[in-house]
Amino acid sequence: MDNLDQLLSQATAAFSASADINALEQAKAVFLGKSGSVTELLKGLGKLDPDERKRAGAEINRCKAAIEQALEARREALRAAQLELQLAAKALDVTLPGRGRGRGGLHPVVRTQERFETLFRSIGFEVADGPEIEEDWFNFTALNTPEKHPARSMHDTFYIEGVQDVLLRTHTSPVQIRSMQAHATRYKDAEVMPDLRIIAPGRVYRVDSDATHSPMFHQVEGLWVGENISFAGLKGVIVDFLQRFFETDEMQVRFRPSFFPFTEPSAEIDFAFMSGPNKGRWLEIAGCGMVHPNVLRNGGVDPARYTGFAFGMGLDRLAMLRYGVNDLRLFFDNDLRFLAQFQD
Ligand code: PHE
Repeated sequence: MDNLDQLLSQATAAFSASADINALEQAKAVFLGKSGSVTELLKGLGKLDPDERKRAGAEINRCKAAIEQALEARREALRAAQLELQLAAKALDVTLPGRGRGRGGLHPVVRTQERFETLFRSIGFEVADGPEIEEDWFNFTALNTPEKHPARSMHDTFYIEGVQDVLLRTHTSPVQIRSMQAHATRYKDAEVMPDLRIIAPGRVYRVDSDATHSPMFHQVEGLWVGENISFAGLKGVIVDFLQRFFETDEMQVRFRPSFFPFTEPSAEIDFAFMSGPNKGRWLEIAGCGMVHPNVLRNGGVDPARYTGFAFGMGLDRLAMLRYGVNDLRLFFDNDLRFLAQFQD
């Protein structure tokens, strides 16, 4: 039947002309839909006599099958083209240069700590360490600050729920006790105990937060115990360190009388530049003093024979001064736009 052949070629042409799946579905409806051409032909079969109907029916069905086959072939082709397109869109250009890994760098507080350690090592100090989760005895009692001592209220801290006598250390001073105990034990049979000279940098915790305080901050404890250790020695070490740390003599350092239960006499150290953009702005950078006899005793050191000085310096404060940063909290926000400025 010529018209069936024609119908098939019309359908094939319409399918090929369909540029996407939607257009193809519409073209399908024209031929195979409810009132599509092929469906109409099949409906007309009823009017024929039985013999004719059988013959025509078979031919129409053959034509229908051929159209369906053409439809399926086109559908497949469109699907493949679509996939091809998606793959091309996601393709990697392997000839592009790599992005690299980006360069990391040390945090300004870490750089400050390393500088601190280098300078103190150069005058014979060792770097000591102690736990951040500390026992009440080391943090307070051994430092001449018994329970209910009013000085404890200046060091409000974080306690561990359900654990007695354990807290986040409020200062690095407990390392004084730990270091003295280890040193005294090591030299218990020696005629003279060699000088103990340590610094102990690390994290400390207090319930505090403003531009110059953060609930977690860094201190460096310093301790020198031996025969004839004096307050004059303390001043010398501190001033010499500050001059080397800031690479200038253009500074003022003030030892302001103060109180700490674990030192006597005690002072706070204030610092100001004499030139530069921050000239004349005083900042408290440390507490210090001569180690209290009770503290020496708790460290296993004989206070009748040895004396010592100690200081606790704010590492973040030094970093603020050195890098001209006026809000301590910036160091701990971890915004890379801020931190990246301190890399060489
Ligand atoms: N631990 C004191 C503080 O955090 C500082 C200090 C250390 C004072 C050593 C005297 C001697 O405030």
